[in-house]
Amino acid sequence: MSNSTFRMAAIRTPTGPDSIEIIDVPVVEPGPGEVRVTVAAASVNPVDLGVARGIFHAMGLINQPERTGLGWDFSGTVVATGPGVDLSTGTRVAGLVDGFDRDFGTHAEQLVVRAPDIAVVPDGLDLIAASTVPLNGLAAAQLVDLLGDAPSDGSRLLVTGAAGAVGGYVVSLAQDRGWQVTGLARAGDEEFVRGLGAEFTTNAEPGWDAVADGAALQERGLALVRDGGVFVGVQPSAEPTAERGVTVHVVVAHPDGARLGDLLARTASGELPARVHAVMPLDQIAEAHRAMAKGGARGRYVLKP
Ligand SMILES: NC(=O)c1ccc[n+]([C@@H]2O[C@H](COP(=O)([O-])OP(=O)(O)OC[C@H]3O[C@@H](n4cnc5c(N)ncnc54)[C@H](OP(=O)(O)O)[C@@H]3O)[C@@H](O)[C@H]2O)c1
Repeated sequence: MSNSTFRMAAIRTPTGPDSIEIIDVPVVEPGPGEVRVTVAAASVNPVDLGVARGIFHAMGLINQPERTGLGWDFSGTVVATGPGVDLSTGTRVAGLVDGFDRDFGTHAEQLVVRAPDIAVVPDGLDLIAASTVPLNGLAAAQLVDLLGDAPSDGSRLLVTGAAGAVGGYVVSLAQDRGWQVTGLARAGDEEFVRGLGAEFTTNAEPGWDAVADGAALQERGLALVRDGGVFVGVQPSAEPTAERGVTVHVVVAHPDGARLGDLLARTASGELPARVHAVMPLDQIAEAHRAMAKGGARGRYVLKP
């Protein structure tokens, strides 16, 4: 990296991992309320695979003339602050950058972000682990907001994909709201799911008061909700049609620095799991995409610029 440029992962013609390029772009100075961060770690999420494959371009959600930036969550160190920002350079932070249609991303050496969207990483939590929290921790917390408090003692929630990034957090956070949680996951995930304090199944029958669909089973997940129950999905671009009086919500994760601070603190204390599958250099981003596409990984692939 020269002083005036930095490296980032970008997509020009989205045809999958082979179309990811590492390009040099000019350094951007933070404006009012913004900070510039040197990225230490940035995890790869399912949404990144979709962006690289062109799924969201095809839906008309991305209209970048030159390039699309990859990456939603990150951790790093503040290196410059704009006017009105109360953070010192050198502070360790993590955050979520949302939205599909952008020419920058977190899979980069640097990033300019809004200060309210980031949180200080607590001492005792390393930046690799911290980078896995923002997108999926916030998605889960905001999904549980949509579920709300359990309507009565013993209300039963099924979390599909309970061993996944979103699902694992939902299993933990929904219990705080009074839900009796059962996790639907693969047979090999039983110890992890039970370790979060939930019941476990590999094959759920219908009849749940609520289903949180971390595995994106969609209509199959909705069919597991009892008449008049609640379904919360994870795919905003494909909301299942409500049926049998079931209330259908879909979460759209959005940045929330204060909430993220709480999730990071709970990760640092060990209350929430920190799950890293592998750490790879940014140059190997295409390999990380290919490996993730095979499924079965538990914890994130984390890129180090
Ligand atoms: N709307 C939003 O704001 C938002 C935010 C974050 C994520 N998401 C979406 O949420 C979904 C989950 O993301 P994630 O990062 O948690 O993915 P993930 O870590 O890959 O978790 C998905 C889990 O579901 C499991 N699974 C899939 N089908 C299953 C089945 N039939 N039975 C049991 N388990 C099954 C997977 O197991 P295997 O690996 O063994 O297949 C995996 O453990 C993705 O679709 C993602 O795009 C949405």
